[in-house]
Amino acid sequence: MKDNDTYDLSWDEWDELQRPAPDKSDFDDVVEAAISRRGFLGGVLAYGSGAAVMGTGLLSSTAAEAMGASRFGFTPIPIQTDGTVHVPEGYSWHPVARWGEPLFSDAEELSQQTAIGVASSDRVFGENTDGMEAFVVDGRQVIAVNHEYVNTKVNLPMNEDGAVTSADDVLTLQNMQGVTVMEVAEGADGWTIVVDSDLNRRITQNTPMVIKGPAAGHPLLRTAADPFGTTVLGTMNNCGAGKTPWGTYLTCEENFNGYFGSTDPEFERPADYVRYGIGLEGRYAYEKFDARFDVSQNPNEPHRFGYIVEIDPTDPTSTPIKHTALGRFKHENAAATIAPDGRVVVYMGDDERGEFLYKYVSNGVYTPGGPTSALLDDGQLYVAKFNNDLTGQWVALTSETTGMDEAEIAIFTRMAASKVGATTMDRPEWVAVNTVAAEAYCCLTNNRNRGVKPNAGGDDTPVNGPNPRAENHYGQIVRWYPSNDDHGADTFTWDLYVMAGNPTVHDDVYGGSSNINAGNLFNSPDGMMFDSTGLLWIQTDGDDDNAGDFAGMGNNQMLAGDPATGQIERFLTGPNGSEVTGLTWSADKRTMFVGIQHPAAPFPDGEGKLPRSSIVAVKRDDNLPVG
Ligand code: FEO
Ligand code: CA
Ligand code: CA
Ligand code: CA
Repeated sequence: MKDNDTYDLSWDEWDELQRPAPDKSDFDDVVEAAISRRGFLGGVLAYGSGAAVMGTGLLSSTAAEAMGASRFGFTPIPIQTDGTVHVPEGYSWHPVARWGEPLFSDAEELSQQTAIGVASSDRVFGENTDGMEAFVVDGRQVIAVNHEYVNTKVNLPMNEDGAVTSADDVLTLQNMQGVTVMEVAEGADGWTIVVDSDLNRRITQNTPMVIKGPAAGHPLLRTAADPFGTTVLGTMNNCGAGKTPWGTYLTCEENFNGYFGSTDPEFERPADYVRYGIGLEGRYAYEKFDARFDVSQNPNEPHRFGYIVEIDPTDPTSTPIKHTALGRFKHENAAATIAPDGRVVVYMGDDERGEFLYKYVSNGVYTPGGPTSALLDDGQLYVAKFNNDLTGQWVALTSETTGMDEAEIAIFTRMAASKVGATTMDRPEWVAVNTVAAEAYCCLTNNRNRGVKPNAGGDDTPVNGPNPRAENHYGQIVRWYPSNDDHGADTFTWDLYVMAGNPTVHDDVYGGSSNINAGNLFNSPDGMMFDSTGLLWIQTDGDDDNAGDFAGMGNNQMLAGDPATGQIERFLTGPNGSEVTGLTWSADKRTMFVGIQHPAAPFPDGEGKLPRSSIVAVKRDDNLPVG
């Protein structure tokens, strides 16, 4: 090579000659293969650090644009940092249901000074809207939706710093969480709640439910109030959701640990409390005013939460069912599908740093109109093991593999999964099953502890195939293809659909995969749904400072992804401080219902008003379908 040939090299090529990359490790080959398998994540270079994968950012997004920009049907929007919702040109939105809005005409209207009093607190739309699903009941449009947690400064505005100071405060907060089932209808003012519909229902942290499956009746679930361990009051921290093939709603109990505390500071926490994060001080001081949440008096009460709960939206008098066969952990959502042989498959993430991804498969088969009552109680729970050769196994959690009995596996699922050496994940949030292809996706939202410290069970969390970055602040989406297109199969192959990152700040692994570019920056993917056409909708719950590592990402948002090309484009931005979470469609697919949770801005009522988590309806101005 003559000296002046170097002038013909690109900057990267020149730099490469000056500072050759160290030898690649086997692990780098794995990651490179994982994110370039379909070609559209090309332009990825691996370095020999064992963890480093560099997305060059712009190369393949250009290729993706050339391949399929038409799939989306909207013009992508820029980031925003303001206090409202933005959608593409040709679309509009309006609020459908705000926290505190009456579901029944006997409920008081929200006061800016005192919010909602205890008497009305279970007669209104709850706080912190999250996962939701739509149903049609006798031709009427019904939405079932979660109310994940509360923001006491907003919900108890008359209390200094939102402090919880009485039993009434506790009951008010308990009533504002759980689930709403409500009829909605589209009129001259767009979609609104049908006040006093006979289908409207609030399910709270005090609603009686039954416990079924292997843990039902177990001594660890028995309390003074429930000596048989088969009934429980309420559901809590309802995060993501799901829908069964037979038309019921699945609500998922996530951070249940935070509601419990001890009035006895000397109370010694058993090992399972430590693994599940149950401490001596609850987030909302429930334990001081409601003995059920005081673990020094009711040490088994926490064992009765952390499950999937089934609700029949067609019958407001029905009793919700906790299905312990689907395991106890910080359940994010429940993505149900049907295997070719008719068995019901439910994918579920445990949203905690270094915890696991699960699957439940029923023993019985679903037939339309046939019996369904045992399908979520009699089945096998599995946990995912990802291999670095892009294969994976669903490892059955049985007494043979774990040394625990069936009930113990259902109650202490995390420990069972640790025993079989499951793959520690970067906080599994929503799983979504493609509606038109045999594949499923999981948002791995972020994990600052990856490669730093073990999970709460002591499992090491080194970088691994689907979790390839240490101190992962951006998140990624892993995708798997079940063997023989059968979601009931116990093997699969996998790759990464996207690694979020910031190529405007980083030129290494933290720049993200090549379908990330300056026009679609985001971090911390969380909510995720496929629409009926097979487009992937991704919602974020991340850092919205719009600075430093997160510069150019703006407020939390919703993007659309094309599974075939990898192209991802921004569709909606939320108000500052909010998380965009929860997505479903009207029966005619002309309306998209989107959840806006915990806005910091006074959304949607404007300056001087309390911020209100809300469901908004998004439509095309030409009223064509939106999913
Ligand atoms: Fe409630 Fe993991 O989000
Ligand atoms: Ca979430
Ligand atoms: Ca999240
Ligand atoms: Ca949230």
